[in-house]
Amino acid sequence: MKRLAVLLAGSGTNLQALLDSEAAGLDARVEVVVSHRADAYGLERAKNAGRTAVYVPFAGRADPARRMGDERRLARLLDAFEPDLIVLAGWMRVLSGEWLEHFPNRVINVHPALLPGDGSDVVSTSFGPRPVFRGAHAVRDALKANAPVTGASVHYATARPDAGPVILSEEVVIRPDDTEHSLYERIKRVEHRLLPRATRMALVQPGQVTTTPLNERTGALALAGGR
Ligand code: GRF
Repeated sequence: MKRLAVLLAGSGTNLQALLDSEAAGLDARVEVVVSHRADAYGLERAKNAGRTAVYVPFAGRADPARRMGDERRLARLLDAFEPDLIVLAGWMRVLSGEWLEHFPNRVINVHPALLPGDGSDVVSTSFGPRPVFRGAHAVRDALKANAPVTGASVHYATARPDAGPVILSEEVVIRPDDTEHSLYERIKRVEHRLLPRATRMALVQPGQVTTTPLNERTGALALAGGR
């Protein structure tokens, strides 16, 4: 049985999707859940499932000296659990390239938008090439930009946030009456489906990537201009 560590800071619905899929053939177990927010509901979910839940203070970018110490402590903590894969599921702190190199091909992240996987600022969609929405406000930014489509992605983490190779992504079409809340709800439903699949892919074949998002309606690969 493979071992997972989940890093989060929020409600932990993606953690829940992993916990739920354990029984449905994930062939991996969440061994430890770490949050840099003490009040993250994800920690409660972990405890309710009988898993180790740890609050770890972690400095933001404004305090680089403290961050280095925090990164070392976090790596030591995770090493003790010998994770085959570390899943960032709402972890809101940037992790350095040195930290990521300590876990090569073993850190994946879920992001609420389509990502190109090659670090560029344009992503292929079934509505043609579209700007990429990175960062903490990707859902709001997609709405503000009047984008016709956004999505969800699971990708390998790199030192540049939301820029690593994509394991799986899927389109979510934006409706004219969408609010940030309604759109995020649909994106999360997709995340909950993609994350267990992508986790399994990363465990079975580390480094495996997909370059085209899945189409929301058909589940097939979405090709630019193919609508
Ligand atoms: C997800 O939408 C993920 O894409 C983003 O953080 C959110 C975490 O949500 N990185 P939850 O805590 O799993 O509900």
